[in-house]
Amino acid sequence: MRTVILGSGTGSNCKSLLESQASNNLGSAKIVAIFSDIEDSGILEVGRHFGIKSVYLGPYNISPDTHGESDHEWISAVDQEKPDLIVLAGFMRILSSYFINFFGSRIINLHPSLLPSFKGLNAINQAWEEGVKITGCTVHWVSRHLDMGKIIDQRAVRISSEDSLDSLIRKVHIAEHFLLPTVVENIAKGTHTFPYCD
Ligand code: GAR
Repeated sequence: MRTVILGSGTGSNCKSLLESQASNNLGSAKIVAIFSDIEDSGILEVGRHFGIKSVYLGPYNISPDTHGESDHEWISAVDQEKPDLIVLAGFMRILSSYFINFFGSRIINLHPSLLPSFKGLNAINQAWEEGVKITGCTVHWVSRHLDMGKIIDQRAVRISSEDSLDSLIRKVHIAEHFLLPTVVENIAKGTHTFPYCD
C-alpha cells in the first residue's frame, strides 16, 4: 500500500509512522514520499533522517473551492508516487475539492480532538478552554467538508485536575502516536475499508 504523507509541522506523527514501518508494524503499508508546504519543517527533516524522499512543494495557498497553479503542482507530485493512501499528518492547509476529487477516497486526516467536537485549528486549546473532561484524537477519511469525513478510529484522553494545557498537549500527542500507525496498519490489512467519496 504505497503511502504518501503530507505535513506542515514538527513531524512527530510522521516519525511514529516511520518507526512503525522500521519495526515491521505497518503491514503492507510502505511510506514512499513526504511532502510539505513549509520549507524548514521538522517533518522533512524526519523523513530525510529515515531516508525517505522528502520534498518542499512550495506554499499551498489556494481557496478550497478552486484550484490554481500550486494545486496542479501538488497533485502532480503526489500522483507521481502512485499512492494507494495519502496521510495528512499535521497538514495545516485545507485541500481543494479538486485535489480531494482527484484522489477520491484515498485520503485520511489526523485531528487532535474527538470529532465531531472541536473542528478546525487549535483543537486541543478549544477542548481545554471548554473544560471538557475527556478529549482525544481522531483519524477520519477526508471529505470536502472540513473535519467531517467518516470517522475511522479515535483514542480518548482524560483531562485531570492536575493537567495544564501543556500536559494535555503532550497527552494528546502520545495518543496520536499510537492511533495513527494503528489505523494505517488496519487499512493495509483491510480492516478499515475505503469508503465511497462523499
Ligand atoms: C497533530 O497534533 C495533528 O493532530 C495536528 O497537527 C499536529 C501535527 O503534529 N493536526 C491538525 O490540527 C489538523 N487540523 P506533528 O507535526 O508533530 O505530527
